[in-house]
Amino acid sequence: MNKNILSDFGREVLEGLSEKPKRLSSKWFYDEKGDKLFVEIMNMPEYYLTDCEFEILKDQGQEILESFGFDRNQDFDLFELGAGDGTKTLQLLIKLRKYKFTYRPIDISKHSIQTLTERVNKEISEVGVEGIQGEYFNVLGALKTNKPKVILFMGSNIGNLLDDRANDFLKQLSVTMNAGDKLMLGVDLKKSKSVIYPAYNDEQGITARFNLNLLHRINSELGGNFNIEEFEHAPEYNGETGHAYSYLKSLRRQSVRIDGVDMEFNFDEGEKIFMEVSRKYDSESLATITKETGLTCVRKFYDSRGYFCDAVFEKSA
Ligand code: AVJ
Repeated sequence: MNKNILSDFGREVLEGLSEKPKRLSSKWFYDEKGDKLFVEIMNMPEYYLTDCEFEILKDQGQEILESFGFDRNQDFDLFELGAGDGTKTLQLLIKLRKYKFTYRPIDISKHSIQTLTERVNKEISEVGVEGIQGEYFNVLGALKTNKPKVILFMGSNIGNLLDDRANDFLKQLSVTMNAGDKLMLGVDLKKSKSVIYPAYNDEQGITARFNLNLLHRINSELGGNFNIEEFEHAPEYNGETGHAYSYLKSLRRQSVRIDGVDMEFNFDEGEKIFMEVSRKYDSESLATITKETGLTCVRKFYDSRGYFCDAVFEKSA
């Protein structure tokens, strides 16, 4: 099959499943079903990340805005990478009502952008919204404006990238920023495995469905014949390094055909597909991913349990 005529999704699935160990990218989790499942994840008692960041934005919103350092008469852009359903961000937007700015949420999911735009229009109609649909690395050009800006990159979304790629991404992001522009980066912190592991292996099996949904997506969009029952959600957490990994494990020896990429893939019993990394940070790893970016940390905001951190960076002159 000519690789050039495949969609980005098809090409990456073909490449990832042809590798050893097999891998798929978590960025493809977010189709309409995946968006819904992720909202369910954010509402699970085990998934502390959203609650922690919500608490930070709700209780320290004023201080956060002050750290951005804008005055009321200065027009600016508020970009948000991986905006999702925007529940947390609305907390900030409400406090920003009186400022002159445009909210520019960016998300890989078209559905998320639509819902979020409608929600802001309805709930905070005085805020102008211009959504952008696309993948982080591809939309960086859209961030290059002459207006002062703040970029929100919350939810520990950066944690889906391993440190080298995260650093590389933040360097590219920094290039789009002018001196004085701010980046607020939300990162989940290293902590006891007894807190982290259940967040990725919940009782109700929502995370399992979220993970397995990518196989459904391959079946429906790429003509695959994955038998979903023959795969199992298999999360791991390495407390030393602070990496939560997510895998799908083949429950038996089997082969899967994906018509859309014209290929058959063989799985051994117990063979795993690497699906996602969710990095947990400490000050050292946070320094690693922000080194040589031209970004200086000006404030760090923590939740009351000290589980999560929203760090504000300024682009140096
Ligand atoms: C959206 C990337 C922050 O890694 O915690 C949640 C995605 N995966 N449960 C995370 C996710 C499984 C989430 N991020």
